Amino acid sequence: MSKINIAVLVSGGGTNLQSIIDHIEAGNINGKIKVIISSKQDAYALKRAEKHGIEGMYIGKENFPNLKERNSRILETLEEKEIDLIILAGYMRILDENMVGKYKNRIINIHPSLIPSFCGKGFYGKKVHEAVLKYGVKLTGATVHFVDKGTDTGPVILQKSVEVKDHDTVEDIAKRVLGIEHEILPLAVKLFCEGKLKVVGRRVIVEK
Ligand code: GAR
Repeated sequence: MSKINIAVLVSGGGTNLQSIIDHIEAGNINGKIKVIISSKQDAYALKRAEKHGIEGMYIGKENFPNLKERNSRILETLEEKEIDLIILAGYMRILDENMVGKYKNRIINIHPSLIPSFCGKGFYGKKVHEAVLKYGVKLTGATVHFVDKGTDTGPVILQKSVEVKDHDTVEDIAKRVLGIEHEILPLAVKLFCEGKLKVVGRRVIVEK
């Protein structure tokens, strides 16, 4: 089976990106990261790309102030690199509808809560964990899902929960959740690259 061409879209530190790179380098994932696109120029994720000899690029508000042109540049890049799978690994921008339509069931996102709780517009990064603490839930977690036209509404691929302990801070929860993100995101990518994810309506079946 030939390797799946992957693009990873990032906005920040890129620890999820790192977990995918590590699994690819260890031979666990039948894929190759062809490009890493960052919406922030100073994202540490771009340094990670450089360290691992992967092409990294900044496509954001400074070099493409016009949203339409920015989205076209992203799409052109994905086409040029013949990308099969797009991974949103801490990408804090809403994707262009055009792109979502074109890559149906080929865009994977990691979200730091148990969807459908604490997700949708305004729920990203630390804000998710702040809301978790404020509500007082005892369990939270992470979700990997396919991206559709809504925000965090696409078919769920994998989920895992963690406990919220009595004296947890936002930082404690973020750290615990990140730990499981680094398990379920590479696993979902591995399954995708082996052709084992089948979408049936809203359900994603993992084939044996
Ligand atoms: C992760 O917790 C990811 O789930 C979250 O941003 C963080 C990025 O960390 N994504 C979202 O909130 C998307 N709605 P990383 O840059 O270290 O991978």
